[in-house]
Amino acid sequence: MNRVVVGAQWGDEGKAKITDLLAQDADLIIRYQGGCNAGHTVVAHNKTFKFHLIPSGILYKDKTCFIGAGTVVLPEYFEEEIKGLIEEGIDVSGLKINPLASITMPWHTEVDGYSESTAGKGKIGTTKKGIGPTYTDKMARIGLKIGDLYNEESLSEKLDIILPLKNKQLKEVYGLKTYTKDDVMSLCKKYAEIFKPYVCFDWQKVLEDAKRNNKTVLFEGAQGVMLDIDYGTYPFVTSSNPIGGGAATGSGYGPKMIDEVIGVAKAYVTRVGEGPFVSELKDDTGIKIREIGHEYGVTTGRPRRCGWFDAVTMKYAVLVGGLTSVALTKIDVFDTFDEIKVCTAYKDTRDGKVYTNYPTDVFMHKYLEPIYESYKGWGEDITGIREYDKLPENCKKYLSRLEEILEVPISIVSVGPDREQTIFRK
Ligand code: GDP
Ligand code: IMO
Ligand code: MG
Repeated sequence: MNRVVVGAQWGDEGKAKITDLLAQDADLIIRYQGGCNAGHTVVAHNKTFKFHLIPSGILYKDKTCFIGAGTVVLPEYFEEEIKGLIEEGIDVSGLKINPLASITMPWHTEVDGYSESTAGKGKIGTTKKGIGPTYTDKMARIGLKIGDLYNEESLSEKLDIILPLKNKQLKEVYGLKTYTKDDVMSLCKKYAEIFKPYVCFDWQKVLEDAKRNNKTVLFEGAQGVMLDIDYGTYPFVTSSNPIGGGAATGSGYGPKMIDEVIGVAKAYVTRVGEGPFVSELKDDTGIKIREIGHEYGVTTGRPRRCGWFDAVTMKYAVLVGGLTSVALTKIDVFDTFDEIKVCTAYKDTRDGKVYTNYPTDVFMHKYLEPIYESYKGWGEDITGIREYDKLPENCKKYLSRLEEILEVPISIVSVGPDREQTIFRK
């Protein structure tokens, strides 16, 4: 069974926990998009591991973990992450990078920082890891790929084309420092050394072998559907395709390799950075969720905005994300709540129009208010429960109602951060 793990909200849904669990049954784990903007947490053996670019399957020694062609890689950050994992005693020998992955060059992070600091109201609240500018250059066909680092002749020819244009942009548009060819060539030499143990030029053979031998592939998404460049709350999005379809473009396998798409969603919603969020709670309930759920960013430490579960965006995520089932996480955060709400529709405050389908014109979201259904809490600690039937009745009622609205099964219920704190349903 080849599965994709997709974030179904605005990121940080607990994807890494689910990826780590499903990686037990996988032979090959492929991270298919994004870069070190991601912050992924796995709690296992009483230890907390944080990943940014390295696939969350790396904790298993015998697995092949691939950083796919659809990703963008910031070399210095990658080096730091690897160093940290080795210091923790983690075997990274199964890690491979597709030479078609894009490199984040220093000018990309500089432009990201510049754009954010000068955008005023248009600020996106990016992670400042150069994600947008790297993908921009990839699409403009003036980016560098990891494979370029190992062919001096073609690298030199590429830089002759890229650098004059890039320097003109850096100087005249952004007022930032420019780069000489010698600077960049020596930087690339350093980068070539960083990636050397991991770059996999015969990636086609590895993928073919896995396919031929019916190995199990797990596709790991970063971010979430609502941050997708095409389907998210544009322009307040990331610059890649976290949706299920992104797994096919970013991994090197076609869509027929995918059997299941598991959308990971929290029992509430969080968002970091700017952008619309209709069910956001700016009151004490929002603060309570943040404190109990420890909702602070893994990559940037920023407090996450919190709100009630939004079934409108989630139904949209089921459709455009291609979800076949849902892994619902952090439901234990509601253990002490008397009342739990679910946003099932939006109302336009200007004309009273009600939307049950997600309106994609995000600039009108400021006029929308959530319409809620309300549920009674269960008032007990569920973190020790491992069987679905043993969950409190009110909790099961809430889960059944979500399944009814979303029209896909909830296949996994997560009741705590640890690997063990998981309920699998048949
Ligand atoms: P990701 O980016 O989707 O992998 O998620 P993050 O790692 O950024 O954030 C999820 C946070 O929730 C992490 O701190 C996890 O350890 C934690 N977590 C995951 N599942 C659960 C759960 O079911 N209950 C609780 N209380 N915490 C969880
Ligand atoms: P994981 O994989 C939550 C958000 C940023 C910002 C927007 C664009 O941990 O779920 P970018 O740096 O990508 O250009 O920022 O996207 N963002 C995330 N939010 N979780 C993430 O990753 C995110 N990666 C990017 O906060 O709003
Ligand atoms: Mg995260």
